[in-house]
Amino acid sequence: MNNNAQLSSGVQNYVNRGQEIVKRREDDFRRMKRCRFDTIAVHGMYTMREALEENQGSIIEPAYIATSQGYRDSDEMEAGLAYLIPTWCYARIANPTTYYLEWVLALLEGYGSDMETSAVVTSSGMAAITSAVEPFLVKLSEAADEPINFVSSACIYGGAFQQFSIRQKEKGRLVRWVQNPSNLQTWEALIDDNSRFLYAELPSNPNIAFCDIKALAELAHRHGIPLIVDSTVATPALLRPLTLGADIVVQSLSKTITAGGLGIGGAIISRKNLVSEKVIQAKEMTDDFASWVKFLPYRDNGPSMNPLHALMVLNDLRTLRSKVDTMSKNAMQIAQWLAEHPGVEQVHYLGLESDPMHKLAKRDMVLADSELDSGKPVNRYSHLMSFRVKGGGQAARRVMDGFEMIYRATDLGRIKSVATIPAISTHQQQGEEARIMADIPANLIRLNIGAEHPDDIIADLERGFSRLG
Ligand SMILES: Cc1ncc(COP(=O)(O)O)c(C=O)c1O
Repeated sequence: MNNNAQLSSGVQNYVNRGQEIVKRREDDFRRMKRCRFDTIAVHGMYTMREALEENQGSIIEPAYIATSQGYRDSDEMEAGLAYLIPTWCYARIANPTTYYLEWVLALLEGYGSDMETSAVVTSSGMAAITSAVEPFLVKLSEAADEPINFVSSACIYGGAFQQFSIRQKEKGRLVRWVQNPSNLQTWEALIDDNSRFLYAELPSNPNIAFCDIKALAELAHRHGIPLIVDSTVATPALLRPLTLGADIVVQSLSKTITAGGLGIGGAIISRKNLVSEKVIQAKEMTDDFASWVKFLPYRDNGPSMNPLHALMVLNDLRTLRSKVDTMSKNAMQIAQWLAEHPGVEQVHYLGLESDPMHKLAKRDMVLADSELDSGKPVNRYSHLMSFRVKGGGQAARRVMDGFEMIYRATDLGRIKSVATIPAISTHQQQGEEARIMADIPANLIRLNIGAEHPDDIIADLERGFSRLG
């Protein structure tokens, strides 16, 4: 915002009108914050007033697919392009349809707390991850060899692993890997004065690592740096890292949030006033990170989301809680079945009491509003698991090749069950050495459990295991 400029009376008129819109939006936000999770997911910030007065009564958010907004006159244009009024100007910067998606995500990630949150949506999950980390990795001095590092769990999606180890290295930034993210001492030992943030993914893809977000956030904040969490697998229906102390959440909207599988996108959702003592590019960056990213680096770098995709995501998001509940219940049953199977060496699923992270996951992973459904909070441990097949990589391939319903695809979060062998797909590029560090062996099958009946999923798994002879 250009606060210092002397405004003409024409521009000032638009600013005054804009303030009324801002006030109405703030009131709508506060009103929605008092609603239950499902109500927020269904309606978000699209109000009946907006439908009736501004959108011909359309009960679903309209798809605004025009590239740009026209202005009444040059005063409104000046006010809009200086960000002095709510405006969308040009679809790379903002768009009315993506706006609705951003605010529903901000509300859901802050659900159950008084915290103020904001969001920006991107063209993919990787665009969200890159847009979230880049602002913290800028040089703070003129020195050509200024050392810049960040500390990340090694148990992360293969694309993020490549982004951190290859793309960031190309720019002279060093990632320091934490092999076992539940070990806080390892994180602490790797932080120094040049560390810019901590990064974790949980539950992680594919080996379902988990850690104590609260403790990790406290550690980050003791060092004056933010904690960034990829919460794609859990979604806000099960876990809300911001409410546990994290500063920024990244989501791949291409996954569980759009379980129907018809959208690609990502999101950055942040708390107001995040902790970043070393890097403050502008006061707005720490005051309201997601909005600052949207109006500055995002505008200049261009990772924006297609509004039609925003509508696809919004549509799926409305039933997020019930889908996550069904898929997680099914997953629990399948994990128990796999744990008893003679062809399985080990199952990684947070719902199993034998999982080393079960106790912590039980504390943090609770289905939103489940206490209203059944009188007490209900734990759900997501749709994602992985298991190691006895007999090595070739045996795992034989099992997976026997599936007739469970798709072989590099995908997760789907309403349809999907399996992959990460060592030959999602985590192939990072190479053998990095897979050993991240504990991704060749016999590991990652299994995303969908909403089919569990009997049919088990029958298909049986078909796979029958190939072992
Ligand atoms: C946990 C996680 N985060 C981020 C991503 C990247 O998302 P996208 O494919 O939308 O770029 C993925 C993709 O598989 C993922 O599994």
